[in-house]
Amino acid sequence: MSRVSGRSCIVTGGAQGIGRAIGEALLEEGAQVCFADINADKVAEVADANAARAAAVGSKVTHAAVDVTNREQVRAMIAHTVEQFGRLDVKFNNAGVNRPMNFLDVTEDNWNFIMGINGLGCMIGMQEAALQMIAQGQGGKIINTASIASRQGFDNVAPYCASKWAVVSLTQSGARDLAKHDITVTGFAPGVVATEMWEQVDQDLMEIGAAERPGQAMEEFSAEILKGRVATPKDITGTTTFLASRDSDYMTGQIIMIDGGMTLV
Ligand SMILES: NC(=O)c1ccc[n+]([C@@H]2O[C@H](COP(=O)([O-])OP(=O)(O)OC[C@H]3O[C@@H](n4cnc5c(N)ncnc54)[C@H](O)[C@@H]3O)[C@@H](O)[C@H]2O)c1
Repeated sequence: MSRVSGRSCIVTGGAQGIGRAIGEALLEEGAQVCFADINADKVAEVADANAARAAAVGSKVTHAAVDVTNREQVRAMIAHTVEQFGRLDVKFNNAGVNRPMNFLDVTEDNWNFIMGINGLGCMIGMQEAALQMIAQGQGGKIINTASIASRQGFDNVAPYCASKWAVVSLTQSGARDLAKHDITVTGFAPGVVATEMWEQVDQDLMEIGAAERPGQAMEEFSAEILKGRVATPKDITGTTTFLASRDSDYMTGQIIMIDGGMTLV
């Protein structure tokens, strides 16, 4: 019996990158996983691709199409998971976006888009997961994806940084409010992880004149990583499975940095 065996988990942003890796790592240790994402086709493919992995450990996998900013859709995703797995034990609020703009050019649309998904989406996800866990009466775990941008403001991505600082404060507020229900709220903060998000960021930074060639932004951004390389999604999942497991039961309100030593705060 592994540390997350049989646990019912939802991972948003599960169609690719960090979210997909979180879900696959949980499945490998026998958890039941609902991969959830706004990209309905891709998240269905991810669930299909993981059917054998789930069967190998006697577990189950499902998927849900969800826009994390839409409360009704979030409720439907949770209801679907409970219908499939019988309950909800662990909720990862991982879906996130970035769209770099030079600081003086940032628009209300840019701010609202990023804060909507990364900030409001996280809050709705926490609230609705907590309501389900409270109704079950046996506690639970909510785990939010923060960032090195939760610890420092970087130029060209100001709304993203603000949204990821919001994730930290939501983690702390949620931890304080939900402790009485035995629900813990934690988070983890990746540094630079090679995913499609970074490919897009790299391209966006060239478009706004902040980089001249592909890969330049990632190289410059990563120069301070003590481990000497950027992360892969697999570098993140040892910690995320730990946070989903009973081994982290005495932790709440905290964010764990997983950035190869890039930001020493
Ligand atoms: N890649 C990095 O370097 C890095 C570093 C720190 C933090 N993060 C954070 O990690 C999380 C995952 O990032 P990633 O690199 O895997 O990104 P990614 O772009 O590869 O994946 C993000 C996923 O979120 C989904 N998504 C976007 N908007 C959504 C919405 N409204 N509702 C539901 N799903 C939605 C996308 O369809 C996509 O599948 C994000 O919160 C991101 O901010 C990433």
